[in-house]
Parts: sequence; structure tokens; C-alpha cells
Amino acid sequence: MLNLIFLLTLLTAVLAGPFDDKDAYKVSPPYYPAPEIGRVPTDLRWRAALKVAQDLVANMTLIEKVNMTTGTGWEMGACVGNTGTVERLGIKSLCLQDGPLGIRFADLITTFPAGITIASTFSRQLVNERGAAMGRENRRKGVDITLSPVVGPLGRHANGGRIWEGFSADPYLAGKLAAEAVTGIQGQNVMAVVKHIVGNEQEHFRQLGEWQGFGFKDLKQPLSSNIDDRTLNEAYLWPFADAVRANVGSVMCSYQQINGSQGCQNAHILNGKLKEEMGFQGFVMSDWLAQRSGVASTLAGLDMSMPGDGLVWADGVPLMGYELTKSVLNGTVQEKRVDDMVTRILTPIIYLSITPGNPNFSSWTNDTTSWKYYGAKAGGNVTVNRHIDVRDEYTTKAALDGANAALVLLKNVKSALPLKNIGKVNIFGIGSATGPLGAVCGENMQCSDGALIEGWGSGSVYPTDYQSPFAAIKERAEQDNITVGGTTESWGNLTKVHQLSSEGDASIVFVLSDSGESTGIVDGNIGDRNNLTLWHNGDNVVKAVAEHNPNTIVVVTTVGPVNLEKWINNPNVTAVLLTGPAGDFGGRAAANILFGDIAPSGKLPFTIAKNDTDYIPLTTEVPKDGLPQDYFTEGTLLDYKRFDANKVTPRFEFGYGLSYSNITLDNLEARYAFPNIPEFLPPPLPPVNPRKPRNNFVPRANETGFPDDIHPLHKYVYPYLNDTSDIFNSNGTQYPYPDGFSTTQKNDTNVNGGAVGGNPALWLSALYVVHSVSNYGPYDTGVVTQLYIAFPQDNDGLKTAPRQLRGFERSELKVGEQKGILYNVQWRDLAVWDVELQSWRVQRGEYHVYVGHSSRDFVLTTSFTLT
Ligand SMILES: *[C@@H]1O[C@H](CO)[C@@H](O)[C@H](O)[C@H]1NC(C)=O
Ligand SMILES: *[C@@H]1O[C@H](CO)[C@@H](O)[C@H](O)[C@H]1NC(C)=O
Ligand SMILES: *[C@@H]1O[C@H](CO)[C@@H](O)[C@H](O)[C@H]1NC(C)=O
Ligand SMILES: *[C@@H]1O[C@H](CO)[C@@H](O)[C@H](O)[C@H]1NC(C)=O
Ligand SMILES: *[C@@H]1O[C@H](CO)[C@@H](O)[C@H](O)[C@H]1NC(C)=O
Ligand SMILES: *[C@@H]1O[C@H](CO)[C@@H](O)[C@H](O)[C@H]1NC(C)=O
Ligand SMILES: *[C@@H]1O[C@H](CO)[C@@H](O)[C@H](O)[C@H]1NC(C)=O
Ligand SMILES: *[C@@H]1O[C@H](CO)[C@@H](O)[C@H](O)[C@H]1NC(C)=O
Ligand SMILES: *[C@@H]1O[C@H](CO)[C@@H](O)[C@H](O)[C@H]1NC(C)=O
Ligand SMILES: *[C@@H]1O[C@H](CO)[C@@H](O)[C@H](O)[C@H]1NC(C)=O
Ligand SMILES: *[C@@H]1O[C@H](CO)[C@@H](O)[C@H](O)[C@H]1NC(C)=O
Repeated sequence: MLNLIFLLTLLTAVLAGPFDDKDAYKVSPPYYPAPEIGRVPTDLRWRAALKVAQDLVANMTLIEKVNMTTGTGWEMGACVGNTGTVERLGIKSLCLQDGPLGIRFADLITTFPAGITIASTFSRQLVNERGAAMGRENRRKGVDITLSPVVGPLGRHANGGRIWEGFSADPYLAGKLAAEAVTGIQGQNVMAVVKHIVGNEQEHFRQLGEWQGFGFKDLKQPLSSNIDDRTLNEAYLWPFADAVRANVGSVMCSYQQINGSQGCQNAHILNGKLKEEMGFQGFVMSDWLAQRSGVASTLAGLDMSMPGDGLVWADGVPLMGYELTKSVLNGTVQEKRVDDMVTRILTPIIYLSITPGNPNFSSWTNDTTSWKYYGAKAGGNVTVNRHIDVRDEYTTKAALDGANAALVLLKNVKSALPLKNIGKVNIFGIGSATGPLGAVCGENMQCSDGALIEGWGSGSVYPTDYQSPFAAIKERAEQDNITVGGTTESWGNLTKVHQLSSEGDASIVFVLSDSGESTGIVDGNIGDRNNLTLWHNGDNVVKAVAEHNPNTIVVVTTVGPVNLEKWINNPNVTAVLLTGPAGDFGGRAAANILFGDIAPSGKLPFTIAKNDTDYIPLTTEVPKDGLPQDYFTEGTLLDYKRFDANKVTPRFEFGYGLSYSNITLDNLEARYAFPNIPEFLPPPLPPVNPRKPRNNFVPRANETGFPDDIHPLHKYVYPYLNDTSDIFNSNGTQYPYPDGFSTTQKNDTNVNGGAVGGNPALWLSALYVVHSVSNYGPYDTGVVTQLYIAFPQDNDGLKTAPRQLRGFERSELKVGEQKGILYNVQWRDLAVWDVELQSWRVQRGEYHVYVGHSSRDFVLTTSFTLT
């Protein structure tokens, strides 16, 4: 009874209807203790890895365990994150490296298409191959854990600074692609990290000190993303479950608060959702300095502190490290929690057969020899950079194929594309050529004076060999004896643009829009974009060219949605192509598509509005109390769902993209995968009784001092205590444990849990949808088809967006070829999150199935009724 009452109070706190009571969303419910690894039934590979890890952990001292949980401090090793070692057991330091589109701070690497770019291919295969190629390059550089892929930000805001790092604001698309990225990366014996859990949708106010430094002096706490329970499950957490299901080894927690509780100490998210309900078997690492407390974070499910420094960059003062040692010795944190942290770190390392200890590059210098511990200026003059070129045919192909398939054809009239019968073409726009500083144009790519290769911040890399659109087009044009001219002039005096644009048979204008992480500011944009207009006076350049040339072709490279209204309907603008930042081969890909060597097949992974006010605005004001609250009042209505629900006609909808060919769809059929699709999840298996080998070492305070052979480095983070005298001297004060705190593992399984990725029934096939697709030519082409489902709308509490993406497929079709497409719709894809039930539910009623070329252009429909 007591339990029931507790549960009910908890539920009423979380479950008031969305935003009826705003204060309810400033509270994130407790969930303790952190569920231990191995409690959910897993496959034998996980179990075997777990056993090996447990035996290792049983043989570790407290100091050794703590060493694995904490980074050694910023710049205290080759990589952006380096863990302490366990010398006695031969466990080497783990190398953790950014990031989402390649290897940060390294030479001789591939710059892959960004997340949002590869998402526009709508291709599981290309995302998988990109992941495998990234994994391969990482392994050759000696990276053990790559901080990729990104599904948070999901893309709530059109102008969120980092949405280009992730895939799409559609959780289904983001989830499927994240799973492929994880599988691709981890297939190369490199661990993937899915990030950032959760609600890090904008750069503004994500961190306190950072944004105070930008002049927001009144800021008192990081932004709180206040997300209602249903939206959390159906939108923001959804793709994380796909990544967990794909056996991702690590999850990174985010900087800002979630419902009033810091991301890295949010027990509801980390313990309740991730570890219990999703059955996650790996470890949670903090984003760099996202950890804001010691014990509280540890209890809430954080397993690894990165980069080791705690509240302040590079000061060597940790929140874990020796503080974690102390918190065990003083009895505040149970040693079994630390055992679980280390077991969670080691198990996926073993599961993925990772062999740590081989980084052959330095994140901190390009010199061949330097200090081993760069941040301490110690361990001098060793080889830190072996300058190994990790690119090969395979990784190059993955990057190029991705860039080619990513380009989206938005407009094509008067047969403008592909280019034919052209003697002279002129190229315009700052985005056509490499900027004056070269492709590597500033720290973390904080620049925008040339072609856009990627956004800026920790998600960027230094391109090795970049070919600009101008260079690629010129190279290709020469084959056909086409003359190429033009100018990159963009500002003020457009005289040359006017002059030259009347000359050619076609004019191609390259325009762009950039954004990044709020570690950097470009043209006054602190990470997030200030507007959705093209940069560098781009609209006026297009207009100037189109004034004189009736065959003006525009190529837009952009980190997210942009406003095209100033010229999209200009009849002289005959064709428009759009791509996300496409890495090394963006220029080449544009040339391939323009000349028709490859047909365009990309589809928009976001909606392009007619009016900027159609998008969800950022929170950019600090309120009087200094505590910015961001209420996600639109709920699950993100991107196209919001336009559909509000009956707003966009310029180009989600999923839109033209073809050079005539593509037709026929023969739609939807079939149940089994006769009675259940309404509710079946109870999962009970928890596995965890095998617990006995610890071989009892922690003793007098064994936690610095060993004689270690001479502490300046600002280096250690597990050792300088002074053990204050350990047992807490003046009799009790640690203020959070409400609902417990150390007893639950003896039942949450109905949504019970396996890696959650209740296995979530992932069962429910519906098979099939149809045919034909290419009537005249081009061989990639073809993306999409499936949307409209759910029953009878239950007021469970209303959904008018239609939701529930299947997509990219095929390669030769002229005259026809192919059958099959979408495997899983039970979860038909489910909604029932807040009262605190679980998933497939409603009874009528469902409509739509198959077509975009989220609005449907060719085939059918329906079915669940009773
Ligand atoms: C603990 O590690 C030592 C090597 O340092 C090894 O000899 C011993 O067998 C290990 N014990 C267990 C229980 O694994
Ligand atoms: C802890 O890690 C450091 C490197 O960060 C290493 O020097 C030290 O020996 C490790 N301690 C143990 C007990 O293995
Ligand atoms: C135990 O140590 C940790 C880490 O220093 C500290 O946060 C906690 O308050 C201590 N507990 C008590 C009861 O003093
Ligand atoms: C290393 O080289 C890149 C250019 O390839 C440059 O942008 C970066 O600043 C250099 N790093 C250091 C630490 O000098
Ligand atoms: C570092 O070592 C290399 C050879 O390994 C030597 O050529 C160089 O002079 C040394 N540099 C310094 C600063 O000691
Ligand atoms: C290009 O010009 C050269 C020399 O005038 C000629 O030999 C060649 O056939 C031309 N190529 C094409 C594709 O027209
Ligand atoms: C604009 O540039 C052209 C050369 O491209 C020059 O002839 C003209 O004087 C300039 N106009 C102004 C107002 O500066
Ligand atoms: C939008 O931002 C870009 C980049 O900072 C800037 O160049 C442009 O002038 C801005 N446009 C408007 C209309 O404010
Ligand atoms: C289109 O280009 C022609 C020149 O070929 C020009 O006369 C006309 O004004 C242009 N139209 C627009 C809308 O700019
Ligand atoms: C965009 O929408 C806002 C608010 O609905 C409206 O005030 C404004 O006039 C619209 N702008 C355009 C260009 O339609
Ligand atoms: C596409 O091809 C089909 C089959 O030949 C034909 O019926 C249809 O009219 C074509 N559509 C277009 C837009 O050319």
C-alpha cells in the first residue's frame, strides 16, 4: 500500500496534462538506485562480456576503479578525453575523441558529410557505411570511443546551433539512422556514444559560466528544458532507444537542465528511462564539464566524468577522481555503485573487442614530438603525432557516396538541370570557393568566408583535402569544353556580379548559412543562428544574377532550414539544389549532380517554411529571476507535424525532393505481421539475479594515498587522496540524499523494460507495408520512398500529429527498372505513450497509411482498423 501511495503522488506530480501546471514541469521525479548492469536478460555476447568485466572489477582496488571512471584532465593525454589506467591489470587509458562527422584535432582524415546531410539521403545503408568508415579511421588513429552519433539536439529549433550534427527532428528518422550509425561504427571495434541525453535543443544558456561570459550577467542557472512526459518519450528519448537497441556502448548526458534537474544528475532520465526502461548496458559519460555535482550525479546514474576536471576547465579539480574515492570511504556512496560504474565501462569495451592504448596522434599539437601530458607541460619530447593517413578507398567512397546522395533538388524548370548544351557557365557566391584562409579557416572551423564544409565547434574537424565547388565544376566542365568564369563577390558593390551574369548560358550561385557550438561566435552568432536568412548578402547576389540571366541555378549549403522567399519564385531562377554541410566532397557532389553524372535523390530532413515565424523560437531572454525556463509547449508537434497540425503551408515540406527521372509508385498493400496486434505491452521477463563476484579488496583509507613512484603532475586528475584525515570527520552530518533515495535494487522490471532497447515486444513487427516503385527514366537514379501513418484521433488524451513518418527506403533504380519495397512497421511505431499508464499503447481504431514522395505528396493510401 505504501508503495502504491508513493507511486500515486509521484504520478500526479508528473502527469498533470501538458503545461496545465507549469510548475509540475520544473520537477523531475526521483528514480533510485541506479539500475545495475546485467539485471536485464541480454544475448550471450553481452553476458560473456559482463562476466569478464565483473571478474576484472572484483580484482580491482577502489583506487583502480575510480581511475577508470574519471578523465585525467583536459590536455592530459592524446585525446579530448583520457581515462586513468589500471597498471596492475594491464588496462590502458581509453581514448575518447570528438566527433560526429570525423576525427577532431587530427590530420590526414576524412571530413564526412554532417549528420543532417547524411540524413537527407534517407538511406540506412549510406549511414551505416559512413559509420563504418568513421569507425575505421578512428580505429587507425587509435581512438577507442568516438563521440558520435547525435540525436540531441533533435532539431526542435530551425536555428539551433548544433542541429547539423544530428539527423532530423523526426524521431523515427533520427532513431533509425542513429541505430545504423552505431552499428557501422561499432562494427569496427570502436565504441559509439549517442548524445546528448536529452533536451539540449539550443545553445543559448546551455551552460552558466559560458553564457555569463557572453554578457548575460543575470543568468543564475543553465536553461531548463521543460518537456512533458509524453513528448519526452515519443519525441526526445525515442531515438536514444534505437541506439540502445543497436547496442551502443555509451550515452553522453547534456549540459542544460531537464525539468529543473541538471542533465548529468537527472535520475529520472539516466536511471529510470535509460538504464531501467531502455535496459542500457553501457555507461553514461558527462559532456565536457556538464557534470555539476559529485555524489548527486553518481547516484543519479552518471558513470564517467569527462574530461576529469569538474566545475572549471583545466584546473585539475575533479567532481569524481579523488572525490569519488572519498565518498566511498566516508560511506556516502556505496562501493557497489562504483563497481557498477566500472563494470558498465568495461563490459562494452570487452563486448566490442576494443584494445585501448594506441592513439598515434595528439589533439593538442601538430608537432611530431611534444609533451606527453600537454596540459602539464610534462613527459617531454616524445613522439605524439605519427601523422598516419587513415583514409582509404573505402572511407573516401563512403564520404563521396553520402555527399552525392544528400543533394536535394528543390526546383527544376525549363529543363535547367542537368546542364546540357552549355558553352559557358559562370559561378557566383562566396560559397563557391575555398575561403581566403584555406579550408581550415580557424580554431574549430569558426569562420565563414568560403564554401561551407561543416559547422563550427567540437563537432568539426580539420579537412585534409577539400575541393571547392568552383574547382570541381571547372574540372568537370573542361571535359565538355565548357568555359567557367564568375566571381565570389558578395558584399556591397555587386557590379562585377551584374556584368558577368549576363554572359553565360547558365549562372550558378553558391549561397550558405552557418552555425555551430556556443564555444565560438561567428558574425555575432553565438552558436545558434540569429536568423534564417542566407549569409554574406546571399539573397541579393542571387537576385543580382537572376536580373540578367534567365538560367540562374542556386546551390544552397546550409546547417538547417533557410528562408528562400526572396527569389524562389523568380522565373529566372530555374533550378535550386540544397545540401547540408557535406564535408570533403561537397564540391564534387554538386558538380556530379549539376552535370547529371549522378541524379539527385536527396529529400529534405526538415521543413522549409515561407515565414520564419512558423518555426519554434529559441529562448534568448534571461528572466528576472535568472532562471530561464523553456517550455516545450508544442509537445510532439515538431517540424512537419507542426505545419500539418496548424494547417500551415510550407515552401518545401519535410521529405520533399525532386528527381531527374519519372518515378511512379504502385500496388500498395498493408498486412498485419500477426493476427491480433495487442493494445498493451506484455509483461517483460523479471530481472536476472545478478551474479556478483566477491570483491577481492576491501577499501582502506590508508591505501589511498599517492604511491611513492608517482610524482603528481600539475593539474592532472588522480584517484589518490593527499590527506585522509578528514574522511571520517563529517561533523556527524548526514549526506542529504535526494527524495526517494534507495540502495536496494528493485525486484521487478518496469513494463517498458526487460531487454536491451526496452521491452522486446516494442520491436516486434506489427505491419508489413509493400508497394512497387518504377523508374521510367530518363536517368538511372536513387529513389527515396516514404511511408506515413495517421493514428486514430478518438481519444482526446492521446491525439497525435496528423501523420507520422513510419517507414523510408532508398533504392537505386536503372531506367526501366521496377522494385518491390517493404516497410517493416514495428509495434512501437504504432504506439503512443499513455501518461496515465506510464507505458506504450497501440490504440484501437482506424489507421491510415500513406506512401509517397514527401510528407505531403502521397501517391498511394490504404487503411486498417484495429479492434
Ligand atoms: C587478480 O589479478 C592478478 C594479476 O594482477 C591475478 O594473478 C589474479 O588471478 C587475479 N584474480 C582474479 C580473481 O581474477
Ligand atoms: C591511475 O591512472 C594513472 C594515469 O592516469 C596511473 O599513473 C596510475 O598508475 C593509475 N593507478 C593505478 C592504481 O593503476
Ligand atoms: C563524503 O565525501 C564526498 C566527496 O568529498 C562528499 O561530497 C560528501 O559530502 C561526504 N559525505 C559526508 C557525509 O560528509
Ligand atoms: C594544426 O593544424 C591545423 C591546420 O591543419 C590548424 O588549424 C591548427 O590550429 C593546428 N593546431 C595547432 C595546435 O597548432
Ligand atoms: C626532441 O627529440 C628529437 C629526437 O627524438 C630531437 O631531434 C629534438 O631536438 C628534441 N627536442 C627537444 C626540444 O629536446
Ligand atoms: C573539346 O575540344 C577539343 C579540342 O578542340 C576536342 O578535341 C574535343 O573533342 C572536345 N571535346 C568535347 C567533349 O567536345
Ligand atoms: C564598383 O566596382 C566596379 C568594378 O568592379 C567599379 O568600376 C565601380 O566604380 C565600383 N562602384 C562603386 C560605387 O564603388
Ligand atoms: C542574418 O545573419 C547573417 C549572418 O550573421 C547576417 O550576415 C545577415 O545580415 C543577417 N540577416 C538579417 C536580415 O539580419
Ligand atoms: C530575367 O532575365 C531577363 C534577361 O534575360 C531580364 O530581362 C528579366 O528582367 C529577368 N527577370 C527577372 C524577374 O529578373
Ligand atoms: C509572418 O508571420 C507573421 C506572424 O504570423 C506575420 O506578422 C508576418 O507578416 C508574416 N510575414 C510574411 C512575410 O508573410
Ligand atoms: C511517367 O511514366 C509513366 C509510365 O510511362 C507515364 O504514365 C507518366 O505519364 C509519366 N509521367 C511523367 C510526369 O512524365
